[in-house]
Order: sequence, then structure tokens, then C-alpha cells
Amino acid sequence: MIDAAVAVSGLTKVFPVPFHRQPIVAVRGLDLRVQAGEVYGLLGPNGSGKSTTLKIILGLVSPTRGHTEIFGHDSRLVESREAVGFLPENPYFYKYLTGEETLRFFGRLCGLSGARLKKRIDELLELVGLTNARDRRLGTYSKGMLQRIGLAQALINEPKLVLLDEPTAGVDPAGSREIRNLIVDLKRSGITVLLSSHLLAQVQEICDRVAILANGVLVREGQLAELIAIENQTEFVVANASSHLVEEIESLIGRSNAQLIERRRSTTTLERLFLDATKNHEARNK
Ligand SMILES: Nc1ncnc2c1ncn2[C@@H]1O[C@H](COP(=O)(O)OP(=O)(O)O)[C@@H](O)[C@H]1O
Ligand SMILES: [Mg+2]
Repeated sequence: MIDAAVAVSGLTKVFPVPFHRQPIVAVRGLDLRVQAGEVYGLLGPNGSGKSTTLKIILGLVSPTRGHTEIFGHDSRLVESREAVGFLPENPYFYKYLTGEETLRFFGRLCGLSGARLKKRIDELLELVGLTNARDRRLGTYSKGMLQRIGLAQALINEPKLVLLDEPTAGVDPAGSREIRNLIVDLKRSGITVLLSSHLLAQVQEICDRVAILANGVLVREGQLAELIAIENQTEFVVANASSHLVEEIESLIGRSNAQLIERRRSTTTLERLFLDATKNHEARNK
């Protein structure tokens, strides 16, 4: 069998709490497999164990029980992390460094230097759309720009797998859209993405598969379209239907054994409305 990009088996993490209180079970008996080339979403409310799971996969936290692997290498071994990039939940960057200097710093940590490092920095700034902001200090960056420089940092050593902890949290809708587009670009270039999010609606469209965690327990896993499909219902979306056609469809349903549950006008999402409205507004200001 081909090694999964990430394999988690029987993972449990208990954090002891001092002074007689009940220990916290952050993750309970978790099994996951992320296939190479997938965008996989680890979803769940705050405190459900997402960050703990990612940190164990990265070998930053040791499990109480169970085992994790990256491309077939045990997470406890350094070589498991060679082809991995990580964007932490609240990345701490030095705010007096510029975008370019930040990437140079992380590039050097990964052993890059000289012309190769310079080329990689140029490519990454271009990829995340920060070429024009490369000489600005991070203290002046928006939250969305900081997440994008964080993403560039995670990609510096040309990883095959990136782990992104809450990549869109705290970013406005347009910024969050840019980050999601970048994640789709990563997938297109063959990089496996494991991301966590408590903002289910934001990431659902970019994930091939998701796992839903609640209190450290896996409660659902699979392809999103299948998880959210309602078994015995069918929807039609019809443009330019005359009222006569609508009446005919209704009467056809009435004459069958089926039941019409709802008839309504199509709506967009609030996020799309916001993006469209602000886009037009920007265009007018130009
Ligand atoms: N280092 C730690 N010490 C004690 N408890 C922790 C520690 N890290 C996380 N926890 C607890 O484990 C649970 C899961 O946390 P976390 O993995 O950060 O969840 P999520 O990322 O889904 O918000 C929470 O109850 C949290 O308070
Ligand atoms: Mg978290």
C-alpha cells in the first residue's frame, strides 16, 4: 500500500492538570489518513483538539497513546519533517522585519542561502501577492497579509505537505478568499494540505475530505458533498421559469406520491454578496 501523506492511528492526548483536577483529554482514539494530493480539513469548534492533533503530527507534542506518520515516517523522527511546512495558529513574527527579511530569516533556518534563497523569496512573494509589500515592515501588514507571509514561510523549503492551523481565522472575507485561492493553487501544484478550521462554511468549498472533531472525538469523516447531502431530497434550480411552469411542476408533484417541501427564490451567501458589493465599490473608486 502507498504511504498516506499523514496517518494517525489510535491517537490520544491527555494533558494533566495540577492540583487534583480532572486531566483534559484533548484527543481521544483518533484515526485519520490524508492521501497525497488532497486538501483535508480538520474541522471542529474551539477546544475540539485540532491544534493538538496537528502538533502531534509535527512531532512538537508527544502523544499519550497512539502513533502518527508523515509519508510513512514516524513523527518522532526528524526526517518525517523534511518535506513539511507549518503555519501555526498564531504565528509570531518579528514586526520590525520586512516581508522579504522575514522570508530570508526562515529560509536561512532551512539551510538556504545565496542566489537560491533570493530566487525562492522572489517566487514566494509573487505567489502570495506580496511583491509590492516586500519592503514594508510586518507591523504595518493586515491580518490577511500576515497569514499570507506565514503561508510563504511554510513553503520556503519546497514541502510536499503543509499543515495550516486556522489559516483564515481573523481575516476579512476578501483576504480569506485570497488565502483559500492560494490553498487551491497549492493543491494544483501537487502539495498535500492538511488544514484546521472552526469556520466550517469558509473552508468547505476547498476541502476534498473533512474530519469533524468534537471534544477530541472524530464524529464524522468523509467527502463533504456526501456528508451534507440529504438522502431522499432533490433540488431543482430553474432560471426564467414562468409562473405557469412553476404551477405545472407543483401540480405534477401534487399528483405523485412525492411531497413538495419548500419553494423559494434562490439566494446567494452573505459572503458572496459582501464580496460582490465591495468589488463594485472598489471599481467605482478607481
Ligand atoms: N499545553 C496544554 N496544556 C493543557 N491543556 C491543553 C494544552 N493544549 C491544549 N489543551 C487543551 O486541550 C483541548 C484541545 O485544545 P486544542 O487542540 O488547542 O483545540 P482546538 O485547536 O480545536 O481549538 C482544550 O481543552 C485545550 O484547553
Ligand atoms: Mg486550535
